[in-house]
Amino acid sequence: MQLKTRMRRLRRSEGLRRMVRETRLDAGDLVYPLFVHAGDGNEPVASMPGVERRSVKDLVRECREAFDLGIPAAAIFPVIDPAKKDARGTHALSSDNLLFRALREAKAAVPELVLIADVALDPYTDHGHDGVLSKDGRDVDNDATVEILCDLAVREAEAGADIVAPSDMMDGRVGAIRAALDTSNRTGTCILAYAAKFASAYYGPFRDAVGSAQAKPISKATYQLDPANLREALREVELDEREGADMVMVKPAGPYLDVIRAVRENTKLPLAAYQVSGEYAQIHAAAQAGWLDGEKARDESLLSIKRAGADIILTYFARQVAESLRR
Ligand code: PBG
Repeated sequence: MQLKTRMRRLRRSEGLRRMVRETRLDAGDLVYPLFVHAGDGNEPVASMPGVERRSVKDLVRECREAFDLGIPAAAIFPVIDPAKKDARGTHALSSDNLLFRALREAKAAVPELVLIADVALDPYTDHGHDGVLSKDGRDVDNDATVEILCDLAVREAEAGADIVAPSDMMDGRVGAIRAALDTSNRTGTCILAYAAKFASAYYGPFRDAVGSAQAKPISKATYQLDPANLREALREVELDEREGADMVMVKPAGPYLDVIRAVRENTKLPLAAYQVSGEYAQIHAAAQAGWLDGEKARDESLLSIKRAGADIILTYFARQVAESLRR
């Protein structure tokens, strides 16, 4: 029998495959998350091979090199000395804290690199929650937290953040932060809302990296989304957009490709997806065991996130991928 359609015709050579390729990774799509600590040297993060807690000096060097590789943006996460943490996360607002120092130095050294700062209290609280606790200590107090986050966002912008990224999932924080930035003459600072952030097990290695992991693991289920809920994620995105978010994010990325696709179809805003620490750790663990080709799995995981509809991908692989795209 004569077949009219032969799908394999377009797959016959690398040239043909390149011509019909629908999705491509580009260094310009990537955001590079980096950890900074107060020490002079670097310290590896055990659960994230290749990732380090860097000194401010090394962070600045890494920022410059990433920028030279074509990566447009870095997200900086501070590892705060446990002695500086308290229940209210007071140190978040202290003008000489590690995050503000890192932002100032990175901005001075590599002004064209877009700097992103998380807006949340978890690096600074001794209980590890993203906000301050209610009076009975059983939950995070939404409105009291939002007030502090507004101050934090303004100070991050003053220190050099081009984008502030509320990752706390409190209600109403995007609108409140927008208003606070505007009244502080920071009308040009962008807000990247962690709009659909799920209560995920995949954040484990990150909490080790920044030292927010607790002896008795905590649950963020009263503020982060239930992994079962897609429609609720769309409501979160809609609200953040209405409150003035310039970009929205879905997080994690790989296990939530359906959410990325649905958000893509429901907003015209630039859409970011965060390939989180646990997704990175998974690929490395399997590669180390010899069970997966790590580089191929890495590229496929990122391509899938882009194909699902993300414009921007936060990934710990950013530098490696930018280097391999150069070759
Ligand atoms: C903190 C924050 C988290 C991540 C980014 N910002 C962890 C959390 O919410 O517990 C996770 C990133 C990752 O796992 O790579 N608000």
